[in-house]
Amino acid sequence: MATLLHNRELEAETDENLRARLDPARRPRHVAVIMDGNGRWARQRGLPRIEGHRAGIKSVREIVTTARELEIPFLTLYAFSVENWKRPASEVSALMLLLRNYLWREKKTLLDNGIRLNTIGRVRDLPEPVYRSLEKVIEATAGGRHMTLSVALSYGGRADLLDAVNALVEQARQGTLPPGEITEQRLAAHLSTRGLPDPDLLIRTSGEQRVSNFLLWEIAYAELFITPVLWPDFRRRHLYQALLDYQARERHFGGIGEQRT
Ligand code: FPP
Repeated sequence: MATLLHNRELEAETDENLRARLDPARRPRHVAVIMDGNGRWARQRGLPRIEGHRAGIKSVREIVTTARELEIPFLTLYAFSVENWKRPASEVSALMLLLRNYLWREKKTLLDNGIRLNTIGRVRDLPEPVYRSLEKVIEATAGGRHMTLSVALSYGGRADLLDAVNALVEQARQGTLPPGEITEQRLAAHLSTRGLPDPDLLIRTSGEQRVSNFLLWEIAYAELFITPVLWPDFRRRHLYQALLDYQARERHFGGIGEQRT
């Protein structure tokens, strides 16, 4: 059985040793990440906030690559929430530019590694050039069979649920959805996460103990891992730590039997 690692023990271990402790048979199918703390990382260094986001991109690259190496089939990253539109226009446009640059630069890596790009959220709200870049990379990587990388953009859990409910109400109004036929499966099929399994593990960086409107429906039985590490400092060893912690847990899914991850 994997044992919970204390921070001091973790710090003393090499990346290779941490990785070797993982049990490939009990890897999660879907890991979701709330990437938080870019602003604090920048402030601690007396830098503008955007430098924190820029540094955060490095962590995105490393975590995508590591998840792929570990053969985790689904990785979902919370990059921009519906609430994030309230940030200063300069920060929003800098984030959009970073996202576009990421797409340009990473397309080849995604293709070479069989990673399919996907988005969740109200992506049509994004500036047209960003939306078009996303569409291009989604189309180019559609054949990726090893991992689905979903980026949450203009995403909100409540907004996504509302959009699904409105779509179902419309079907009911048109008579294509008989009354009483709204099931969990049907609702889930109208969320922007349709086709993705529910996350097994939700990681949040920078120590906040919140879910911040992320995947509200889908995380019903997800295991939570909260680390004080700020997102720009999050490295492969921190992902290994989260996975080791996850593998040491028992999941019950509301039952009483012991179900190991
Ligand atoms: C949270 O930090 C982070 C964000 C709102 C943006 C995350 C975006 C990236 C890492 C870059 C784009 C992503 C991809 C997938 C290419 P914060 O600004 O809320 O930090 P704070 O709470 O310390 O202020």
